[in-house]
Order: sequence, then C-alpha cells, then structure tokens
Amino acid sequence: MKRKILLLLLISLLILCGCGQGEIEKDKEDNKDGTLASNSADTQTTEENIENGNSSKDNEDASDSSSGSEGSATIWDPCLDYGLPIPTETHTYDNGSKLILVNKQYAISSDFYPTDMVAVDGSLSTNQNLYFKREAYDAYLKMLRDANSQGISFLICSTYRSYSTQESIYFNYVSAYGTEYTNTISAYPGRSEHHTGWAVDITSPSMGYDLREDFINYPEGIWINNHCSEYGFIIRYPKDKTHITGYSYEPWHLRYVGVDVAEEITSRGITLEEYLGKA
Ligand code: DAL
Ligand code: ZN
Repeated sequence: MKRKILLLLLISLLILCGCGQGEIEKDKEDNKDGTLASNSADTQTTEENIENGNSSKDNEDASDSSSGSEGSATIWDPCLDYGLPIPTETHTYDNGSKLILVNKQYAISSDFYPTDMVAVDGSLSTNQNLYFKREAYDAYLKMLRDANSQGISFLICSTYRSYSTQESIYFNYVSAYGTEYTNTISAYPGRSEHHTGWAVDITSPSMGYDLREDFINYPEGIWINNHCSEYGFIIRYPKDKTHITGYSYEPWHLRYVGVDVAEEITSRGITLEEYLGKA
C-alpha cells in the first residue's frame, strides 16, 4: 500500500514538472517574437548605416546634434565655401516692390527676372544692351536732365545684371583678389541687387569712365550725392555703414526706392537694411 502511495506521488510530481517545463517553453516562444523584432531592428539599423557609409560614431554625432539643435538639420550650400551665410529668404519672382531687399543675407534666385524693364539709350551709357526698371529709368532721365541743366554730366555704367553675369563678375574678382576681399566689393551670384533691376552704377568722363571711391571728390559724384534722393535714389553703400551693408563705400552705386523713402533714408542717414528693420 505504501508503495502504491509513493508511486502515485512520484507520478504526480513528474506530471507537475512536465507542465512547468511547458509553461517555460511557452514563455520563451512568447518572448521570441519580441526579442527577434528588436534584434532585427538593430540589425537593420546597422546594415542601413553601412549602406549609407555611417559609422556608430556618426550615429552618436547625429543624436548629439539633433538634441543640441532641437532636431534642425544642417543645410549645406555652396555659398558657405565663399564665406556667405545661408540666406534668410530668397526672392523667387518679382512682385513689383521697389523695396525688395537683396544683400548677403537676402538672396534672389537664379531664375528671378525683373518685370517692367526698358532698354537704356545706348548714348547714355558706357556699356550697351542695358535694361533698367522703367520707373527707375524715368527718374534717372529726369535727374540727368536737371544735372545737365546745371552743367553736370554723367553716364550709366551698369544696371540690371542676370545671375550668370554676376557669376562671371564675382568669380573673376575671386580669381584676381581672393574671396575675402572680393566679398567686400562684389556680390556673390544671387546676392546682388543689380539683379533686381532697381540699381545703377554711374561714372563720368572725368573719372575715365571708371568706378572708384574718389568719385565723391568730383563734381558729378558730389552732385549725385547731394541730389539723388530728390529723384528717388539712395547711395546704397555709404562710407560709414560697411558693417551693415557688408560692402565698401560705393558712391557710384545708386538704388531706386522712390522719392519718399529715399528722402527719409537720406535725411536719417540710414541704410535700406535699417529702414526695413533688417540690419
Ligand atoms: N558691387 C555690388 C555690391 C554688387 O556687386 O552688387
Ligand atoms: Zn553697383
């Protein structure tokens, strides 16, 4: 009898152990999916990184930078190689505004084409086939007539410039003088306000048709400096504002903004950037 009881106990024990093993195996099965999913994700990440040429260091750097910059990606632009900032804004079409701001920070796209332009009379310019915004050209002609009546004469040297023209000018300067100096006298393509059609460079026979800072010492430069605002033009790159405009003094470079704005900018001794609150 005792033997029978012992045998029954042994069988019960064996059954209990067998079930326990079954539960453990089932738990393993359940866990397997989760473990495999997570492993496969890890594996995939590693493979993708290899495909993309990333190392685990890259991953660390990426997670560092995303937390440091609150998730913003770093954008690369060729202008960075030339010491120019990524533009805050890029004008892609002409909305007709005379107050369009183009400088080192505010860009103009390569396919921007100014509307309402007219051909400049070749006898009034040193270079041919120039185009100028109609309103600016009308104001210029009025200014020239009045200057002429006071014995002052000058000529247009440059007005509208396309992206590719500016590109040639800028990179010729870079070849001749290097990037740092070039950036103080010439605009990177897509950052010149000549591209808007509202700017004009003026020279005179007494200057040998050149564009130089000493234009301001000649009667033509003095007259323009004293009167251009009456016709809606400003001296766009004044002598004491290079820290704002980013360019050396250019007494020959006028920008049309309309009479009211030109008078205000000139009388307050400010730049277009300051007038627009974007200095
Ligand atoms: N010289 C001026 C800054 C220009 O290149 O547009
Ligand atoms: Zn100019």
